[in-house]
Amino acid sequence: MKKFFINTYGCQMNVHESEKLAGILYNRGYVAAKSNEDADIIILNTCCIRETAETRVLGNLGMIKKLKEKKPDLIVGICGCMPQKEGTAEYLRRRCPFIDIIIGTHNMHLFSQYLDEALAKRKVLDIWDSEGTIECSPIRRNSSVSAFVNIMYGCDNFCSYCIVPYVRGRERSRNFDEVVAEVRALVESGYKEITLLGQNVNSFMGGKPYFSKLLRALSVFDGEYRIKFMTSHPKDLSEDVVEAMASSDKLADYIHLPVQSGSDRILKLMNRKYTVKDYLSKIDLLRSYIPSIGISSDLMVGFPTETEEDYMCSERLIERVKYNNLFTFIYSRRSGTVADKMDGQIDLAEKTKRIERLIAKQFEIGNTLAQSYIGTTFRVLCDSFDGKTCFGKSSCDKSISFPGDQSNVGQFVNVKVTMAKNNKLIGEIV
Ligand code: 5AD
Ligand code: SF4
Repeated sequence: MKKFFINTYGCQMNVHESEKLAGILYNRGYVAAKSNEDADIIILNTCCIRETAETRVLGNLGMIKKLKEKKPDLIVGICGCMPQKEGTAEYLRRRCPFIDIIIGTHNMHLFSQYLDEALAKRKVLDIWDSEGTIECSPIRRNSSVSAFVNIMYGCDNFCSYCIVPYVRGRERSRNFDEVVAEVRALVESGYKEITLLGQNVNSFMGGKPYFSKLLRALSVFDGEYRIKFMTSHPKDLSEDVVEAMASSDKLADYIHLPVQSGSDRILKLMNRKYTVKDYLSKIDLLRSYIPSIGISSDLMVGFPTETEEDYMCSERLIERVKYNNLFTFIYSRRSGTVADKMDGQIDLAEKTKRIERLIAKQFEIGNTLAQSYIGTTFRVLCDSFDGKTCFGKSSCDKSISFPGDQSNVGQFVNVKVTMAKNNKLIGEIV
């Protein structure tokens, strides 16, 4: 039996796109290999949001070249947002002639056709043609408990540091009823957690009131399940969405609300279109409706011209908000973006110092928060068991481990936190 291996880089959007590719390959009779070495088809599902992800892809291509030398019939495909970056597909074609298929983010649904071409020893290069929302099915999901559902693609926000609008194209939404039908089918087939995906879910179908309508339409199915979504742009998060979140326990008490910086001057340069005050008023709004809400965020250090004082504004902001979870990034230059042309680029040593300080600060905050949960009981969806311990998440997205067994996987259980160790919550079923 022929085997495939997909290397996934980047965000949950890409993890889900790999599930779609796996669906196409299973449908053709291929099965998953355990490693690149063991595969007849190797796919790199790439990300170019930050330089680090791109560097890893280029590094892995060296290893894959050697595999292809040993196994000439090996098919190598590269997809995701990296080939969509200006000049990259041509660069890969020239520098890595052993790659058989190079496709972008818009034409993944054609992968089976491209595979036939590659099997006939013809090279495929297809990037950036249509900007539709053609769905791939069937999807081969990684989990039988949690599922992702795309509700929109692309982004129109053009944050000055970000390459996404250039490589993933303009914002476009899937059909409302189609999304409802997909989520209904997932709930009916036993999935307990569904995460709606989009670069800016709040502008689903052009914005208010469609996203809150969607959330309400997804909270009426029978049984216990949870709907989450990501990502929300703070400028577009509106009260009707918060109201909808508070109206049903099927909508998780959790939001990912990337702030990017705690300095108004930097936010303006980033073209984020909100101030720290606007952002904090959204946090207050969320907490007034849902006091126990879990909030996570993305925060970047070292944006061009960021001073020590700007950086300290970010530290003060995280102290004020007390995020459940914070994803921290070193700003990286992306060619073609506005920020790449800005004066005042910060050197890597300084950026590294700042991110280390930020991580240490968040660790402290997270630790204090974690200690405060000792004695609290959470409704936890158990998503895995490693042979000894069960792992799961609360509605407010806190990760909790507890003693249990395989039968807990896919179940909701009440777990009382008994210990907090290095930000991690440990508890027992009550
Ligand atoms: N450099 C560093 N981080 C970036 N992000 C997006 N573009 C860049 C960049 N050029 C981060 C943002 C975004 C997350 C998905 O990636 O914080 O929210
Ligand atoms: Fe990038 Fe901004 Fe769009 Fe997010 S909202 S994908 S950071 S341009």
